[in-house]
Amino acid sequence: MDKILITGGRRLEGRISVSAAKNAALPIMATALLSAEPLDLENVPDLADISSMRRLLQLLGVEVTHKAGEAGHMVLHCPELLSTTAPYDLVRRMRASVLVLGPLVARAGEARVSLPGGCAIGTRPVDIHLSGLEALGAKIELDGGYVHATAPGGLQGAEYLMPTVSVGATENLMMAAALARGQTVLMNCAREPEIVDLAACLNAMGAKVKGAGSERIVIDGVEALRGALHRIIPDRIETGTYAMAAGITGGRIEIDGADPSLFGEALDKLRRTGLALDATETGMVADGGGARLSGVDVMTQPYPGFATDLQAQFMAMMCVADGAAMITETIFENRFMHVPELHRMGARITVQGSSALVRGVERLKGAPVMATDLRASVSLVLAGLAAEGTTEINRVYHLDRGYADLERKLRACGAQIERQA
Ligand code: UD1
Repeated sequence: MDKILITGGRRLEGRISVSAAKNAALPIMATALLSAEPLDLENVPDLADISSMRRLLQLLGVEVTHKAGEAGHMVLHCPELLSTTAPYDLVRRMRASVLVLGPLVARAGEARVSLPGGCAIGTRPVDIHLSGLEALGAKIELDGGYVHATAPGGLQGAEYLMPTVSVGATENLMMAAALARGQTVLMNCAREPEIVDLAACLNAMGAKVKGAGSERIVIDGVEALRGALHRIIPDRIETGTYAMAAGITGGRIEIDGADPSLFGEALDKLRRTGLALDATETGMVADGGGARLSGVDVMTQPYPGFATDLQAQFMAMMCVADGAAMITETIFENRFMHVPELHRMGARITVQGSSALVRGVERLKGAPVMATDLRASVSLVLAGLAAEGTTEINRVYHLDRGYADLERKLRACGAQIERQA
């Protein structure tokens, strides 16, 4: 199994191009199921999760082609559905596979999707996806580990108040409602930029979605969706991760293609540590200023609050900050699995329930560590970049799910990082 070796302690300096947002690309790829015409996507990131979604869509009848010579240009075309079943083997690998549920029921009146089951960062149920579809008139049965949703006469627009803010449920229901009869009003919606991007793509396909980015989304169902061309937004989590790579090493990284306006509260929190983040003509620049950053408290919240997907990286940065930082995770239980690994590198962290008190130390020390999920893995990369000596990160397949070209991008800024097969 591959591992990553990092010799830390170097100040990173250079330029990185940010990839497109994985979490925008995944639901947008699933919209191809809603139309018989081709969906032309620009800027699709080259990631394992994208390949998993591509494989699932192909199984369902989507023809996937790549435009020659244009990296990231993908055309998805589903003239006819070949299957309405998303099998266990694919769903278990990537929870976002559940995003095909809404589009399949909307187009075919039927879907069988394996339950994603538990996952490393908590139980992550799909009850809101299901009760939302029921509100739109689908009948839901659970059978043999599969959700079987049926709506033989098609879905019917309805009002639905989500009990908890859920990114995936908001997306699934928006896609389902696009082809429902009449109007759907979704309340207590997630407001992430990726949801705004999904709405933009749906609207380019002829859907009538209003209010994405607010807590109330109104969708007037249409009979059919057409093909469209859509460019995916930059990845704010990848951007934040590289900004923190500059922060933790006291370096300076220019991040081309980044959009700081997508950061929400994280922009202010990162700046308060002393990390300078400024918009440039081509994106943004993150400058750690060569000095030690200060401890800052954060609490994860749905957007525009501090993203849970930046929590582990922020914790790594706080491990070497001057002073203490209280980090509270409110979105997922069990999302502190990076803590014992950071301990192995000399971090001083005390966890109490959903909060972690990080007391900054002068320096981390390289150690063999093990990655447990995508963001935890990259937090260990950041820690390794700042640590004295060599850090060996095992189970790096998690990183490949969400970070395109990670080693190459970091090496371009002077990092000593390599992958060993
Ligand atoms: C998405 C992101 C993930 C990010 C998360 C929160 C994608 C592909 N993934 O995941 O990277 O960490 O948003 O920003 O975009 N919940 C329920 N019932 C449901 C659905 C969710 O109780 O039916 C709970 C979850 O367990 C969790 C919270 O709601 O505690 C938020 O989860 P959700 O926003 O749905 O996350 P995902 O869409 O899975």
